[in-house]
Amino acid sequence: MSHSHAPEYVLGTDAIEAKRLGLQHRLWSAAAHQLWELAGVRPGLTVLDLGCGPGHATFDLATIVGGASPDRAAHGRVIALDESAAFLHQLNETAAGRRLTNIERVLGDVQNLGAAFPNAAAFADIAYLRWVLCFVPRPIDVVAGLAKVVKPGGKVAIQDYFNYESMTLAPRHADFSRVIAAVARSWRSGGGDPDIVSLLPAMLRQHGFRVDHLAVNQRIARPGSMLWAWPDSFWASFVPRLVDKGFITAQDAGAFFAVWARASHDPDCYMHLPPLYDLVATKL
Ligand SMILES: C[S@@+](CC[C@H](N)C(=O)[O-])C[C@H]1O[C@@H](n2cnc3c(N)ncnc32)[C@H](O)[C@@H]1O
Repeated sequence: MSHSHAPEYVLGTDAIEAKRLGLQHRLWSAAAHQLWELAGVRPGLTVLDLGCGPGHATFDLATIVGGASPDRAAHGRVIALDESAAFLHQLNETAAGRRLTNIERVLGDVQNLGAAFPNAAAFADIAYLRWVLCFVPRPIDVVAGLAKVVKPGGKVAIQDYFNYESMTLAPRHADFSRVIAAVARSWRSGGGDPDIVSLLPAMLRQHGFRVDHLAVNQRIARPGSMLWAWPDSFWASFVPRLVDKGFITAQDAGAFFAVWARASHDPDCYMHLPPLYDLVATKL
């Protein structure tokens, strides 16, 4: 277990962020399940959920790989890794409450999977990473680690961003766009990359993977729709952090929230959401 880099990821690990991740998972769970099916997730497999957060995807994966057969061989497991002890603690509490007994937790850095799994030859059938690679300074180290822990013939399934800064309110509004630019700046300042998916095909190929599937989920949200709650919850969690960290002023934040409040009641506007890419690769 390694913990040799900046201890907290840019969006934080407090209760507000934990709750936002739960809502976010629900709003994107159809896309996740579709990708898992494409990657071949099924009962009996060993699946890694890397950068699992409080475990919202982990629980769904554990239910699927656990199966319902009395045959022990059909009981798969999920190994959930995160650098946040707080998120892993929450994951553990929820798993116990839901009586999910096939989840193992690992406190570690996705950029150092060798330290997180020191004795393991390639053991994972599938590794899943959603909204993690865009935050890490050394994605190439993550891919190098994946090449060691995923079995030959096993899969990596990734959901992450390219062209994040295309997110906009429509019609555009300068007070809104200023904050989007600041969000991307803050990720970059922590070593992250809101364009990360563009770099993954080459990184994966260089580490012995074949990219089988690459597609994009481009969604929009209209005021009053279920998906409007996604950006809404993100602003509540993150815009105050942007002020605290000096990426925008309190006045910028005030102007942003005024635009957002008006937009939330304007049936003629919509949000062009950030493009979320799906990628499945096979370890050769
Ligand atoms: C946006 S959350 C996504 C959580 C989860 N994958 C999901 O889709 O709900 C990003 C997660 O990545 C974790 N994370 C960020 N950098 C990490 C690193 N270097 N090693 C392990 N976990 C990391 C954070 O602690 C956080 O739980």
